[in-house]
Order: sequence, then C-alpha cells, then structure tokens
Amino acid sequence: MNTEEQTMTINSHSLKEHGVMNAVYPAQIRSGVLEIQRACEAFYSLPLEVKRLLPYQQFDAESGAGYEYKDNKNQPGISPSTRDFKENLHLKMKYLGWLREKAGASNEPVIVELVEAYASFMGHLAPWVSEIATAIEEQHGIPGLARDVLANQDLWVLRSLHYFGDRNADAELAKPHTDKCCFTPHLYENDSGLERLTYENAWVPMPVGEGETAIIPGMQLQNISDNELRATWHRVKANEHTAVAGRFSMVCFVTAANRPFIDSARAGRMQDLGVGSTYRLPLEEVRKLFKTSE
Ligand SMILES: [Fe+2]
Repeated sequence: MNTEEQTMTINSHSLKEHGVMNAVYPAQIRSGVLEIQRACEAFYSLPLEVKRLLPYQQFDAESGAGYEYKDNKNQPGISPSTRDFKENLHLKMKYLGWLREKAGASNEPVIVELVEAYASFMGHLAPWVSEIATAIEEQHGIPGLARDVLANQDLWVLRSLHYFGDRNADAELAKPHTDKCCFTPHLYENDSGLERLTYENAWVPMPVGEGETAIIPGMQLQNISDNELRATWHRVKANEHTAVAGRFSMVCFVTAANRPFIDSARAGRMQDLGVGSTYRLPLEEVRKLFKTSE
C-alpha cells in the first residue's frame, strides 16, 4: 500500500463531530506497539531501586524524560478512591542519548532493551503519525499541519502508564483533563476504563480496540483549528478487574512545530479548568491560554 492509498483510508471527520477518531494500525505499527508494551512491562517488573536507575529528569520547563513512581497515599484528604498510585515512563527522542547513557550505566539488560525498543518503535511510528496529520490537514483544511507535526518528532512524548492495583472498583485513576499537545494517539489499553466527555456532557467509553488507536485532539489543535477541533476531555476509571490487577496503557503526545503552545504558567493544569469548559470557550479566550511569542 503506498502512502496515498493509506492516507485515503484514514478518516478524521469524526474529530469534529465527536472529538475522537479511530484508525487501524498498519501491521508494522501493530507489532511495534506490542513489542514496546512488552519491553515496558518487563521494565515495570524490575525492583523499584533498579527502575530508579532511569530516574525522571526535568530537562526544561515543559518536560523531561525517564521513570516516575507516584503515590500520594500519605497526603491529607486522600482516600482510596482519589489516591494517585502509579508509575510511568516518559520517553522523548530528543533525550535518546541521555536514555542510552543511563541504560548503559545501569548494567540492566531489560533497561537497555527498553530504550532500544523505544528508538526502533518511534522510527516506525513517525511516518504513520505523519499520515494521520495529513488526513487531518486535508479533511479539516489546516495547511502545513503534517509538515509541522513531523518537524517536531524529537519532541513528541511516548508515555507508558502503569496504574497499580489495590484500589476501589469505582476509583478515578486519571482525573478528567484535556491534553496540551496537538493530538494524542492512544496506542494501547489492556482493559476498559478510558472515557471521554461528549459535547452533551455525558461520559462514554472510548475503547482502544486491539490493532487500532483512538486519537483525540489536544489544546494545541483546538487553537490551530480556530476552535473547530476541540480538545477532548477524558478520564480513566477503574473497573472490578483493574482495581485489583492494575492497568497498563500507552499514548503518544504529538506536538506541532511553528505553532503556539499552551502557556502553562497562564493556563495552569488542564485538570483544574472546569470539566468540559473548553468545549464552550470562545476563540479569543482560547487564544489567551497560549504563548503570544515564540
Ligand atoms: Fe490524557
């Protein structure tokens, strides 16, 4: 299948109507997702002190890379339903050199394999993400989007998440929020629980089927598209199985170069904006959340 044929099969029209689109993976992406997921799970099964040999490092104001372990159990006011209890990997090609250095120094083959699986996966993912961006560009009239998305590939973030078990079955594992990026392919979910907020204010499941991805717009795309493609509010709820056994997921935060990015200092955390509020925000108010010069 050539690039033109593949692009034609990617239909992004539901982004405008429902805030989500699905796309079936090409075979190579499908096996790549399972491979990187396996490498992440092998990493998570290491003892905590070994995982910490790949420590999260903040490289600039916007982001960093590495492994993070979070548990706020002992903070006041935290209940089993609201506890933030998870670990994640935050990977960026810009820091591949640093990741390789840490992996080598760890003397742990599982960490070396994880970093190499990541580098190889991103090599396959980038052309496909570019096709998705081309579909959005053509179907929603956003000239230059695919070029700008591809130009930023070293800054896209691959995030693997592992929510631990030992939770209540009704726990909210991820609070309602929008993503700041341009768009987010949800690459892997090992169970149900991911939900999106409709424009009619109802929470509905957002399934990520085997061999396909669910893609949602983030705040950058809402701004670029002049409010036509609105950043989708989403959350993750536990179910009876994941509350006990835990939950794995993987997303890629895709950003575009040459386009304004949200001003975190001005906009604050996305989960602190009123749930669903950005669906109805006038364009001039959306613009105020973004950096004016760059
Ligand atoms: Fe998100």
